[in-house]
Amino acid sequence: MKTTLSVIKADIGSIGGHIRPSQALLDAVRSRIHAHRGNHLLIDARVSATGDDIAILMTHRHGVGDPAVHKLAWDAFRGGTDVARRQGLYGAGQDLLKDAFSGNVRGMGPAVAEMEFEERPAEPFLFFAADKTDPGAFNLPLYLAFADPMNTPGLLLSPELSQGFRFVIMDVGHTEGDRVIELNAPEDMYRIAALLRDTERYVVESVWSRATGEQAVAACTTRLHNIAGKYTGKDDPVMLVRVQKNFPATGEVLAPYAIGALVAGGMRGSHNMPLMPVPQESGVSYFDGPPVVSCAALCMHDGRLTEAEDAFAHPFWDRVRDQVAAKAIELRRQGFFGAAMLPMAELEYTGVTAMLAELEPRFRLREEARPQVAMRAG
Ligand code: 13P
Ligand code: 13P
Ligand code: MG
Ligand code: MG
Ligand code: MG
Repeated sequence: MKTTLSVIKADIGSIGGHIRPSQALLDAVRSRIHAHRGNHLLIDARVSATGDDIAILMTHRHGVGDPAVHKLAWDAFRGGTDVARRQGLYGAGQDLLKDAFSGNVRGMGPAVAEMEFEERPAEPFLFFAADKTDPGAFNLPLYLAFADPMNTPGLLLSPELSQGFRFVIMDVGHTEGDRVIELNAPEDMYRIAALLRDTERYVVESVWSRATGEQAVAACTTRLHNIAGKYTGKDDPVMLVRVQKNFPATGEVLAPYAIGALVAGGMRGSHNMPLMPVPQESGVSYFDGPPVVSCAALCMHDGRLTEAEDAFAHPFWDRVRDQVAAKAIELRRQGFFGAAMLPMAELEYTGVTAMLAELEPRFRLREEARPQVAMRAG
């Protein structure tokens, strides 16, 4: 019998700015979801926060994109939004971009990652949630974990892993329908890299074992400004990764986060900042960031979840956090200049566009330049 693992995440309000949800808000969502654990809808569930986002992790038998499961999460977020309003939280209901639920939360604001599979006798998996960044943040960690033997010795040491992985990559710049491409590692490594380097355009949607055909990764591909057509906060992605046996080991999937790679996000969703691995339930701080990623490591059996190990709470990551903080401060020294800020097309605010439009009529072609041009032409 197949089990479905679903995670649906939304920002529905936060204390002190875009920092973290209040305890009352988290409790409100949690109690609404926990009431359904073990009933016809859910086998098990776990509610957690990363930065100002609340994630609902659920196990059930209803498959991917199930309307009842999605509605449960939507209603819990709607109910939570009332609490957020009552408490005067900032950005109450921020990620609920549509008024009426229409069968699936995809395209309505919340981030979604789901997969349905036949459980293995031992089913270890990782749940990642990031805040103040977008889905492209997972491109490099997934490339390294599933395609690069410099990161993942399992690609050399395990006969199953050495058969490689299939990447399904989505063109998130395309707004009418899902435009996807399938590429195989290792033969297509350069092609995969050529796409994944462009994190604002191409995003890994899923990764599959070529040895067994099993799904290893489900990642979210939501880009909020494609839905709302205006700035509605950052996309703040979630991801599920099954590990061990025919998939990379937990440590191989976690290792790339020691890089503190620069990702899009941070203040007003408009900068490049290094991604900091943090314990679950940590907020954000410096420069509305830095962008953070948390990882809960669990096992499941018959859909029932164990407790979670907070993977980035381990002392190893203290040193990484120090290095990421230093990198963040270094980058912020150059303010708005050059690579510190995202290019025009990716800026999450329209103010600067309006400012440039206002300046447009004040530009003039300098008269004196003309004779020089004429002389050169002659
Ligand atoms: P253990 O002996 O601790 O199970 O280690 C297995 C392993 O190879 C981890 O990468
Ligand atoms: P969120 O998407 O996490 O709400 O980020 C908003 C923001 O731009 C903070 O500066
Ligand atoms: Mg927010
Ligand atoms: Mg957020
Ligand atoms: Mg957001």
